[in-house]
Amino acid sequence: MRSVTCSTPTNIAVIKYWGKDSVALNTPINSSVSVTLNQKQLKTVTSIVASPTFDADRIWLNGAEQDINNKRIQVVLQEMRRLATDKAVDADGKPIRKADWPSYKLHIVSINTFPTAAGLASSAAGYACLVAALIELFAAEEEYPGQFSAVARQGSGSACRSLDGGFVRWEKGTKADGSDSLAVQVADHKHWPELEAIICVVNDKEKDTSSTSGMMTSKDTSELLGFRAREVVDKRLRAIEAAYKAKDFATFGKITMMDSNQFHATCLDTYPPIFYMNEISRAIIHMVHKYNDSVGAVQAAYTFDAGPNAVIFVQKQHTAEVMGLLLHHFDKDASLEVRGDFDKKSAVAPA
Ligand code: PMV
Repeated sequence: MRSVTCSTPTNIAVIKYWGKDSVALNTPINSSVSVTLNQKQLKTVTSIVASPTFDADRIWLNGAEQDINNKRIQVVLQEMRRLATDKAVDADGKPIRKADWPSYKLHIVSINTFPTAAGLASSAAGYACLVAALIELFAAEEEYPGQFSAVARQGSGSACRSLDGGFVRWEKGTKADGSDSLAVQVADHKHWPELEAIICVVNDKEKDTSSTSGMMTSKDTSELLGFRAREVVDKRLRAIEAAYKAKDFATFGKITMMDSNQFHATCLDTYPPIFYMNEISRAIIHMVHKYNDSVGAVQAAYTFDAGPNAVIFVQKQHTAEVMGLLLHHFDKDASLEVRGDFDKKSAVAPA
């Protein structure tokens, strides 16, 4: 028997991935870049026990058994088994060689410390953590740099960006087999310690439109999506990577907000349209702009993935102020009211 446990944080894209080039390979129509969060709040913890006495591979997510034959889980398992080395040892210290693994079955138990499938990149942390745990289990080694991230990508696109900390670009790649569609670390987690993310859980229910089906309809129907991939993303990637390296929050924040808005504009441009944000999301956007206007600088920047929940980036010195504003305006039990220096607006209560 051999057992391993790993934990992996989620990542939040600031230049979004939306649209698949190949559905089979899970490659994107545009490159993207994200901030990997720390391990404190939004992470997946995965334990794997491997034993020759188990009858079959099995997998549980948040206590509920999942279909192990899911195509994406299977691709990840097969690829990682292929990258196993002879270096693993069992609980008694005896070697498990690559050739021994077919007689071992795996029990995989995974827990998210945050709402699943609610637009907080749970699949990113989930598949990255599955790959991280399998690397450990099989003592797996890459054949080329970034290969593990390319395996995680086949589970969930955004997962390829969670194997590294800091600021991570997912290169869309050019090869037909998808092998160069992988993650590259732009800056490590020590580079910008003042950067913090406030997570606003507006609604923790699973989204109605999964990212995969949303992307497919967008690709088929939205002209804005193609324009964005051709004309916008590369320019923004260059600018935001330079801003991140220079710790230029004003530029980083402005591009982050513009890209979130453009992603949601492509969702609206999709036919039939997809609405991931709700009234509270829009009130948060409004509040952040009013706050930035009132201080005369971009000090807070929102971004929303495929769900209504906001991630607000700030620098440490402004976290308390922005948190205070959020708590003031988004009282848990009351209907939402944006007051004070802000325009009056009301919306439904956060879940
Ligand atoms: O990796 P997926 O299939 O869950 O898609 C992620 C899509 C966004 O979160 C909206 C954007 C991104 O780049 O993470």
